Amino acid sequence: MENLVKMKGIILHGGHGTRLRPLTHTGPKQLLPIANKPMSQYCLETIAETGISDIAIIIGGVGADKVREYYGNGNKFGVNITYIEQDEPRGIAHAIRLCKDFINNEKFLVFLGDNIIQKSIADFVEKFNNTNSDATVLLCEVDNPSQFGIADVENGKILKITEKPKSPASNLAVTGIYFLTPVIFEIIDNLKPSWRNELEITDALDNLLKKNDNVSYEKITDYWKDTGTPDDILHANGEIISKHPAFQHRHLPKNLSESISITGNVIIGENCVIEENVTIHGPVIIGNDCKVMSNSKIGPNVSLGDNSIISVSLIENSIIMQNCKIHSLTQIKNSIIANNSEITDDHEDEKIFLLGEGSKISL
Ligand code: G1P
Repeated sequence: MENLVKMKGIILHGGHGTRLRPLTHTGPKQLLPIANKPMSQYCLETIAETGISDIAIIIGGVGADKVREYYGNGNKFGVNITYIEQDEPRGIAHAIRLCKDFINNEKFLVFLGDNIIQKSIADFVEKFNNTNSDATVLLCEVDNPSQFGIADVENGKILKITEKPKSPASNLAVTGIYFLTPVIFEIIDNLKPSWRNELEITDALDNLLKKNDNVSYEKITDYWKDTGTPDDILHANGEIISKHPAFQHRHLPKNLSESISITGNVIIGENCVIEENVTIHGPVIIGNDCKVMSNSKIGPNVSLGDNSIISVSLIENSIIMQNCKIHSLTQIKNSIIANNSEITDDHEDEKIFLLGEGSKISL
């Protein structure tokens, strides 16, 4: 495959995803679906779209094999993928250091597989290719700066970068999209683990700043989300369905009954059955081979994975994955329901649960 841009890409796909258990007991959080597509696929497509074609995916932790299985050698996605294993989640800088041979003295882009954006970063890639900055970080304003790496910026220059500061100097988060040069490897070699026993990329960047004072920044002014929690994932789901360029066109089956009400951005896959008196209020995405039975109400902000069945139910602000069956008068809101789950109202006076470790139910 022709290497269009002489820069390489790295996607971080490891970690424990503890705040997303039990969903992450069976696989990495970066494979959880947003608008029916693994969230890391948005990263991969964003990188591929810039013309970068050599990408390393760092895997480790639960279900690392599922990542290899899904992305394969990258052919399906128009890129070449190399897998690099990280034995323990020892930090972003540690993961980057594992890629030294892969990078082979070129400039590179690192994308955390749980970071979601909507716009192209092709301009940033082009600019970085043409600068002599040692690194460029993408900053984004946030409401909760003590939960991120934060940049202290003055007159267009970064003065300092601090990981999760108690008293943040600004509300400019350092997003998980880093443009780097091989200079970073030597800096990482001299890093000490942080309080959370990780080699922090923010410490590496701050040391790089101190050494050469040659770290620049760009700002993301539209959507960026680090999807650490279920609420973050649900938020990203709604944003992606309503605004991502891939979902800009309503797609509905032909010959829908007039008793069906559809409003907002709604995308319905192939081979679906939508029965009488169903209400679908976008943003909603429904996969292939789904059934939505009479009188169900879906949306706003719902993803329904392939081959799922919804009957007599009201579902709002939720992600229902593949092969699920929901037949219940209980309203389902703010929920994430993994593949092959069933919720039914078969028993009037009792509720029966078969729950995996770490499940959360709110009745
Ligand atoms: C990591 C980085 C942090 C950055 C964030 C962006 O945080 O350490 O600097 O702001 O990603 O997603 P973590 O998700 O490891 O807490």
